[in-house]
Amino acid sequence: MPGSPGGALVWGSPWLDPWGPRCFILHLAALLLYNARHYSANACLIPICSLYGAAITTVEGIGNTKSRIHPVQERIAKCHGSQCGFCTPGMVMSIYALLRNHPEPTSEQITEALAGNLCRCTGYRPIIDGCKTFCKVSRSKFNNQNCCLDVEENPSSLDKEKVVKLFTPEEFQPLDPTKELIFPPELMVMANDQQKRTLIFHGERITWISPVSLKELLELKTSFPRAPLVVGNTSVGPDMKFKGVFHPIIISPARILDLNLVNYTKNGLTIGASCSLALVKDILENAVLELPRENTKVFCALLQQLKTLGGQQIRNMASLGGNIIQRHTTSDLNPVLAAGNCTLSVVSLRGRLQIPLNEQFLTGFGNAILQPDEILVSVHIPCSETGEFVSAFRQAQRRENALPIVNAGMRVLFKSGTDTIMDFSIFYGGLASTTICVNKSCQSLIGRCWNEQMVGDACRLVLEEVSIPGFTQDGRAEYKQTLIVSFLFKFYLQVLQGLRQMYPCRYHDMPVRWMSILQDFQTRIPQSSQKYQVNPEQLPQDPVGRPIMHQASIKHATGEATYCDDIRAVDKELFLAVVTSSRPHAKIVSSCALFKMAHSKQYFHQSNFFYLLQVNCVGQIVCAVVADSDVHAKRATVKVKITYEALEPVILTIEEAIKHNSFFDPERKLEQGNVDEAFETVDHVLEAGEIYIGGQEHFYMETQSVLVVPKGEDKEMDVYVSSQHPTFAQELVASVLNVPSNRVMCHVKRVGGGFGGKVTKPAILAAITAVAANKTGHAVRCILDRGDDMLITGGRHPFLGKYRVKYKLGKVRAADIKSVTESSFFPYPKIMETALLRMDNAYKIPNLRFWGHACKTNLPSNTAFRGFGFPQSALVTESWITDVAVKSERQSGSNYIFYWTNSLVHIYTDGSVLVTHGGVELGQGIHTKIMQVTSHELRIPTSYIHVCETSTVTVPNTRPTAASIGTDINGMAVKNACQTLLKRLAPIKEKNPEGTWREWVREAFHQSISLSATGFFRGYDTNMNWEKGEGHPFEYFVYGTACSEVEIDCLTGDHKNIRTDIVMDVGCSINPAVDIGQIEGAFVQGVGLYTMEELTYSPKGVLCTRGPDQYKIPAVCDIPEHFSVSLLSSSQNPRAIYSSKAIGEPALFLGCSVFFAIKDAIAAARKERGLPGNFTLNSPSTPEWIRMTCVDQFTKMKWGGDCFK
Ligand SMILES: Cc1cc2nc3c(=O)[nH]c(=O)nc-3n(C[C@H](O)[C@H](O)[C@H](O)COP(=O)(O)OP(=O)(O)OC[C@H]3O[C@@H](n4cnc5c(N)ncnc54)[C@H](O)[C@@H]3O)c2cc1C
Ligand code: FES
Repeated sequence: MPGSPGGALVWGSPWLDPWGPRCFILHLAALLLYNARHYSANACLIPICSLYGAAITTVEGIGNTKSRIHPVQERIAKCHGSQCGFCTPGMVMSIYALLRNHPEPTSEQITEALAGNLCRCTGYRPIIDGCKTFCKVSRSKFNNQNCCLDVEENPSSLDKEKVVKLFTPEEFQPLDPTKELIFPPELMVMANDQQKRTLIFHGERITWISPVSLKELLELKTSFPRAPLVVGNTSVGPDMKFKGVFHPIIISPARILDLNLVNYTKNGLTIGASCSLALVKDILENAVLELPRENTKVFCALLQQLKTLGGQQIRNMASLGGNIIQRHTTSDLNPVLAAGNCTLSVVSLRGRLQIPLNEQFLTGFGNAILQPDEILVSVHIPCSETGEFVSAFRQAQRRENALPIVNAGMRVLFKSGTDTIMDFSIFYGGLASTTICVNKSCQSLIGRCWNEQMVGDACRLVLEEVSIPGFTQDGRAEYKQTLIVSFLFKFYLQVLQGLRQMYPCRYHDMPVRWMSILQDFQTRIPQSSQKYQVNPEQLPQDPVGRPIMHQASIKHATGEATYCDDIRAVDKELFLAVVTSSRPHAKIVSSCALFKMAHSKQYFHQSNFFYLLQVNCVGQIVCAVVADSDVHAKRATVKVKITYEALEPVILTIEEAIKHNSFFDPERKLEQGNVDEAFETVDHVLEAGEIYIGGQEHFYMETQSVLVVPKGEDKEMDVYVSSQHPTFAQELVASVLNVPSNRVMCHVKRVGGGFGGKVTKPAILAAITAVAANKTGHAVRCILDRGDDMLITGGRHPFLGKYRVKYKLGKVRAADIKSVTESSFFPYPKIMETALLRMDNAYKIPNLRFWGHACKTNLPSNTAFRGFGFPQSALVTESWITDVAVKSERQSGSNYIFYWTNSLVHIYTDGSVLVTHGGVELGQGIHTKIMQVTSHELRIPTSYIHVCETSTVTVPNTRPTAASIGTDINGMAVKNACQTLLKRLAPIKEKNPEGTWREWVREAFHQSISLSATGFFRGYDTNMNWEKGEGHPFEYFVYGTACSEVEIDCLTGDHKNIRTDIVMDVGCSINPAVDIGQIEGAFVQGVGLYTMEELTYSPKGVLCTRGPDQYKIPAVCDIPEHFSVSLLSSSQNPRAIYSSKAIGEPALFLGCSVFFAIKDAIAAARKERGLPGNFTLNSPSTPEWIRMTCVDQFTKMKWGGDCFK
């Protein structure tokens, strides 16, 4: 139990994701050991004071490369479950916690344990594959499912070519629970022996008090009525961290026994208010197993909500009382607890009260809310009775681990032996500031029979009673209105089914099409297969073409891999925080920053210190503050006051830009054939088609990070930056400091995900930080919070595509497509150019014309993002293709412009080889592939080779690691260096052919032969003449195809990805495990782009989606239940190294197969209802879009309307 005496907390790495008020912190996890139970938790949410007497295990504590790695670390690493590795410690700790409680978990437990962890790189499949190996049933299940583990055993399912495994489970260490850490005996002794006393911790600004008796707690609450009781801190913590709420005194009730008791009686359950939601779930599950079904309706409805409420880490910490007391509209429990007639036991020094958890309590009417000196002790949840039905509903942006858009708890009680309503209650969340009750409607339905007329009237009445303002803050009024009645209809069917089971003779079978409504989508552990080819002639020691594990994956899994913020603090290091514009378009009139804060360095402290005269978007960096800690620096930013003078116009959308003619020049055009003529001659025309593709946030797990260390001599600076383009950071820093580039040494060990978002943006932050370091003479670190990162850095360019198409006999003869990108206030012409060049996708249309124009808005500048315009432009193309042809094969082509690069290879006299090259390790496995190339070229084992950081010191003038070209160009440069070295060693090898590598190297050293070489690759000649519309912009194409199957819930807009099969042409893969990982990861990111990830802005241009609670990227629940990837065999590509192909980006577009599957499903639903098949579905196809395009009587119902026919 959280914080119980003798409890122990175990958590992961010290780097806390700056989570936004909303969180699943990924690379950290915590475990609480108490009574042999272990809990994972989010380290960022746990107050340090609550850990008194706790034992903490971090990811480093369960295993490391110096002693022994833990089986979880080994399996996730060896199953290729880490790419950039930033999320990996969190994944490891979630599964470790599960295994401590359940050494042979079920697949459901694995998906549940991982539901609160996010990964932006892998697409989850390999992580799950690693974790599945712990399941007792995994082998037999896999045998039925054609899993990768069984491909050799089941060759008939595959082509003739030899297929090998991506990993070898036989080599995994067994999980041995006897080798696990034990709970520290000294803490146990301390918990048992020490006399319980009140604990008081004083911080810089906050006092934490942890009493031991209820009486003392009540006295404290009377003395400090405004002090919150902090249990899980999942609500108070985020408010303090991100919303500026400050509590000088915090009271912790964790050690009060009364609040942790559970009492079973024949009337129901009484659960202590401090019990965690995870414990509540366990208690309810046990009760459901033990009690007769008819008594557990409320329990089952609560369990339904608890399954998806937060992630496991949140449920482990969040308390039942905390969820209830705040009366948040997003509480998933309150609607059910209220509908289920639960009561609250409340106590103060004045005495004890029983308060019904009802409408009055939820709306805070009269004396129904708790007084400041009162506390909630327990909650009584009654058993249901015969003839009583209780259900829970929720719809969120993502099925799991997302706050609900609307939720509901509904209960009906029938007169004994009849279907006559005796009591009826419905509570909705998400519609107003708190949970609301539609009591009037329910009351007027009492006495009615449970039939269609009743539900029709109920819908009408409910809509009359609930009024949602036409404009809701989240702009979802119509959708919410539809959900209200859709949930009611679902409840009607559920109860009808229940009545049918009770009285089979009285009710007809339910129509089949309604039966599916009764089943909710479940998250099942995905079954997957991967297929690739190996060359049977290849020497066994040659690593090229083999699924070699990412060279850093073990270090990722043990937490030893170092990211920018892990670099140890430098003496007297300072921290920088940025101040950003709060206006979308304004002149800065004046500014001042009056810091009188302890510890803050008054770096910018006078009035009017800005050089920036005008701001063009909210989130534009205006100035920066430096202090001795990041907390102090952030606190100081609030003291900077800026006076603005608003400028017109403020342009926030593509439509507004078109209206104001706000464009960047030039407009680009590409044409082939004669479009105008074709339009005059061909008969069938698709007029005025349109699709909008929303932007996308990179959501790399490691936010923008930089550390600048002045070296103290000759103006030299070391810049450690999480960047895809160290040379650009070097040049920008040198330029702002007015020093030559040779004084700035840029280092990148690894990047925790980039996806294009760390090509240009980190250089800006590096330059700002370098100015501060230069000015103060101290090392300065700047790590952006998630919220700031999202606000400042921009993302994928939104697109609007408009098209006219002429076709005949199923063949497209001519297409005229206009597209507009939203470029913000800084042009990025290459995006539009690349988008146009790739817009024909895999189709050959004789008469084709593309126009492309970038518009200027007052939003943060967008930037490169995986696919670089192609995912947007190709979706436009697929959209008009699908509009024209009902069924079409979807194929993707993608292509790149290549650049030069170089490398440096040293051979040391002990035979070891150090390789540096111009590519940055972003998780895409470039260093692993480079090791394979080096090994292949020098014919030495990979164990001899080390690839260290990417640095401007060793490899100058690098190009960005972007556009998937890293291995293409750096591999060639390394090959070139290796060949130079081999040539030098050739005479020695010839003289001593039986010698070893080390002998040859030593001999070369004795002969004074240089054992160091640079390599160079000049890239390919690509060109494009936009005036003539001609050129050779791409060297080669990557092909791929995907087929996806989905199921949609026409009543809620939810969808489930059932199956995806991908075939991808990657040429001869250098590393199939890495390439398949890139394909799966990109695909899932594409699924996010096209179906989930939605950026929203306020009418004043402020990005609202600034953290993981508002911006949903795919989680484990979103990957296809059956997911297969095959690499096309016999594909050759003489233009790239070892006949391989660039693969980092193309598969992202294949995510649109899910989008079009959803569109087809909606079309089928519309057809059933006699609605036209042509309708607009914009991207992302969120639950709201899906529901509202599945038009039915519920979507048409208006407030006070009478439409239930
Ligand atoms: C990432 C994330 C996802 C979430 N997802 C969901 C979701 O999907 N659905 C959902 O319903 N909720 C969700 N929540 C909310 C979560 O359930 C609540 O924050 C949690 O239950 C609050 O409990 P706590 O112990 O952490 O509260 P704390 O933060 O510790 O306290 C919250 C408040 O409750 C008061 N309080 C606590 N106990 C008592 C008591 N015994 N008597 C009087 N006052 C008391 C405190 O004074 C304080 O004001 C989510 C939260 C997070 C962080
Ligand atoms: S490996 Fe999971 S976020 Fe990069």
